[in-house]
Amino acid sequence: MAKGEFLLIICALMVISRVQACYIPPNLDLNVHNKLPKGSTVTTVEVADCDIKSLKLSCTHPDFTIEKNGDLVTKTTVYVSSRGETFSVIAQDSTGSQSVMEVSLHQEIQHNSNLLRRSKRRWAPPPFNVRENDLGPFPKEIDKIVSDASAKYSVYYTLSGPGYNEAPVGLFNFDRKTGMFSINKPMDREQYARFELLVNVYEETTNTMVDKPLPIKIEVDDVNDNHPQFSGSLQFSVPEQSSKYTVVGQVNSTDRDDPKSAHVRVRYSLLTGTDLFSIDPVSGVITTVSTALDRETKDKHMVTVQLKDNEGASNGLVTTGTATITLSDINDNPPTFKQPSFTATVQENEMEKLVLRIPVDDKDLINTDNWFSKFVLTKGNENGNFRVDSDPKTNEGLLYVIKPLDFEKTPSVKLEVMAQNKASLKGTSAQWLTVPIDLTVTNVDEGPEFIPSIKYLTVKENTPNGTVIGTYIALDPETKTSLGFKYYKVTDPASWITVERGTGELKVANTIDRESSYVKDGIYNITVRAVDTSSKTGTGTVVITVEDVNDNIPKLPSEELVLCEKEGDLGSVVLVAEDKDQPPFAEPFTFSSPSDSQDDSKWTVTKLNDSAATLQQLTELHTGVHDINVLVTDLQGSGTLQTVRVRICRCVNGVCPAQKSSITMGPMGWLALLLPLLLLLLLLLLLGFLCLTSHQKLQMDDAAESGGVLLKSNTEALGEEVDSSLLVGPSVTVDSGGMGGMGGMGSIKGSVVNAGWIGNKSTSSMQENGMYKGNIVTSDTQYTSNYAEQQFGMYGEGQLLGNGFDNRFTSQDISLLHTWQTNGRYLDQKLYFMGEEDEGRYADDVVHSYGFEGVGSVAGSVGCCSDFGEESLDFLDRLGPKFKTLAEVCSKR
Ligand SMILES: *[C@@H]1O[C@H](CO)[C@@H](O)[C@H](O)[C@H]1NC(C)=O
Ligand SMILES: *[C@@H]1O[C@H](CO)[C@@H](O)[C@H](O)[C@H]1NC(C)=O
Ligand SMILES: *[C@@H]1O[C@H](CO)[C@@H](O)[C@H](O)[C@H]1NC(C)=O
Repeated sequence: MAKGEFLLIICALMVISRVQACYIPPNLDLNVHNKLPKGSTVTTVEVADCDIKSLKLSCTHPDFTIEKNGDLVTKTTVYVSSRGETFSVIAQDSTGSQSVMEVSLHQEIQHNSNLLRRSKRRWAPPPFNVRENDLGPFPKEIDKIVSDASAKYSVYYTLSGPGYNEAPVGLFNFDRKTGMFSINKPMDREQYARFELLVNVYEETTNTMVDKPLPIKIEVDDVNDNHPQFSGSLQFSVPEQSSKYTVVGQVNSTDRDDPKSAHVRVRYSLLTGTDLFSIDPVSGVITTVSTALDRETKDKHMVTVQLKDNEGASNGLVTTGTATITLSDINDNPPTFKQPSFTATVQENEMEKLVLRIPVDDKDLINTDNWFSKFVLTKGNENGNFRVDSDPKTNEGLLYVIKPLDFEKTPSVKLEVMAQNKASLKGTSAQWLTVPIDLTVTNVDEGPEFIPSIKYLTVKENTPNGTVIGTYIALDPETKTSLGFKYYKVTDPASWITVERGTGELKVANTIDRESSYVKDGIYNITVRAVDTSSKTGTGTVVITVEDVNDNIPKLPSEELVLCEKEGDLGSVVLVAEDKDQPPFAEPFTFSSPSDSQDDSKWTVTKLNDSAATLQQLTELHTGVHDINVLVTDLQGSGTLQTVRVRICRCVNGVCPAQKSSITMGPMGWLALLLPLLLLLLLLLLLGFLCLTSHQKLQMDDAAESGGVLLKSNTEALGEEVDSSLLVGPSVTVDSGGMGGMGGMGSIKGSVVNAGWIGNKSTSSMQENGMYKGNIVTSDTQYTSNYAEQQFGMYGEGQLLGNGFDNRFTSQDISLLHTWQTNGRYLDQKLYFMGEEDEGRYADDVVHSYGFEGVGSVAGSVGCCSDFGEESLDFLDRLGPKFKTLAEVCSKR
């Protein structure tokens, strides 16, 4: 190896020393394709022993040019004839010396027939060309490599590179002695298109390299051994009814042969389906050639496509395939009706009822908008009684009645329905179709029907009872009679109208009042029901317009008007009158004060507006209440003299201050005040008894001031509840006569004296009634009313004794007496318990109860505002000023 390196260095030195001596080979033979496209590099001129940049290269053939780097390039597409092309390449170096290379281009096909023998190669030779798929016999000699050194030395050659000692090993064979290069088996260009190997030459005895290594290139020439293949899908789609030359799609193909050769240039053709389609031979684009594509006839077309390489030449390789062309749907078929006409029946008065299914056919693609039907009613639906829907599953039309039909009016209906698609029609001259439908309406026995369903009547208010205001009858819709109908009132809020059962006559039953709350805006409604002989019913409404009558006069305010007194000023008040009637029976009002009255000089009335007037003071008047007569009339002059009450006072904040002087206590007020006093008296008596029975000396205040007791009761105020049993009848009374009899009774005397004056009074009234006996038995005291004993002859435990019974008493009186006796016993018990118990508690109990009058009391409620008969309580007015104070408690009155 050291020897080899040494030789290499010597060679390199040799090259450097000869750098100026450029030269190009005198001959160049090339096998080329018969067609050389523009711009293709044919070969590279190789220059020995100098830099190519220093040479000027030119070419004698007008179609070729030589680039700076030595590439021989076509200027245009060159066709190499079978005779070949010959021209010269001239190289001129910097010294001006020229060298010429004769170039011969041969058609490739010739190349194998005359194997070129190469010798004396001092530059890289053009590639060896090996034809692929050679049939042999193998090994087949290709070329001999000879080195110039073989002339001087006895040499041997070595070969290295792919195909020989590198993968794929074993393709080539090489004779070390002769330099013969041969192939062992057929080549496959599609597997290995070119090889690059290196040849070295050595001196046999010294094993030293005696020449430069020679690179050799082996090119495998293509043979058209691969069939074209389809690439991409062969599924295409085009709308039916497409016009001529519509593009369907493009068929693509591949070919594994040499892409530079015609072996890959495929020509397309159709073997079937040429009546409908054609294919562009070069591009493979399929177009339609007919307008007769109809999806409904045939929705898929299979066409055979042929690929032929080598530009379709007769020796080209052929592949066929089937392209599927699917026709897409357009809406070129309207839906058609399965029958020329339809009939159906429907009951009258039916609603939202399916009447008829209308089946249709559509040839277009199912479940698309070209197929889905849509229906339009073109005739017979002027009143909007019908609707046609589509059944999305069956595509049928569904005819519905949506508004009831009336057999009496329309016993039959002639309809016309048009069937459409969701999509509009295309590619056809056909129109949407219609179908007639005869619809029979069947009769149904209907109930009575009021005609009209709302009747309007006008009635004057206050129309006399029994006046007929109208007749409202119903008819049978079938027979148009109202025979045997009965009429009933359904609503009549104010019960003003009666309906005659048999005739439907409407009569006034009661005074109709326009001002009633039942009348809204002068309208009063009643509803009436008619019932036919088969109990079918119908209802109707009567809307009564109530006309106004001047039945109301203008009214002045009834409450007291306040006139605030001002120093040196004559005051006035505004009177506003009201009339419930409507114009012209109301405003404007006329106000006047009668000239003959004495008010004339004190007051004057002036009109303020349509409904109000000013009442003006003419002279200074004393404070207090004044009644003034004023005449108010409505527009019709109807009205009456009315009294206006005006209070003149010194105002505080525009109102009269508390009107002290005017408090007049009504009899009920007095009663309300008095009752607690009576009850208090009772209480005191009870307490007295309590003290008596419990042996405890009750310290009663001296009765020197009876008024004190009254004031106390006043502080008790009103409204406490009282055990009613205490009030049904007083069981204890104080008899003025009995006082003396009780002289020895200890402390009870004091209590009786305390209530002395009122005791007189109550006793007298009770005696007048002559009704009871109080009988209290305690452990050590017996008290009997003298009076009762005298009157009833009763004694002991309330027993009625026969002797001396006054025949004035009725059985009612006796039962009343029983009540009294029962109450007496209750009170006895009560008192007894009070004796046993802590007195404070019972006293409390009694005080809490005394204000309640209970049920059945003659006094009724003690509430401030309760009312009562006036007469018998007049005495209360005479009770003196102390009661006034009490009365003010009830100042609400
Ligand atoms: C064929 O090739 C063209 C262009 O690349 C492409 O548009 C077309 O879709 C291809 N056709 C098929 C069927 O793959
Ligand atoms: C009509 O009759 C009703 C009751 O039957 C009666 O209250 C009313 O006063 C009568 N009206 C007239 C104007 O007779
Ligand atoms: C009376 O009936 C009419 C018609 O139905 C209606 O418009 C009106 O509101 C009703 N009036 C009353 C007060 O019910």
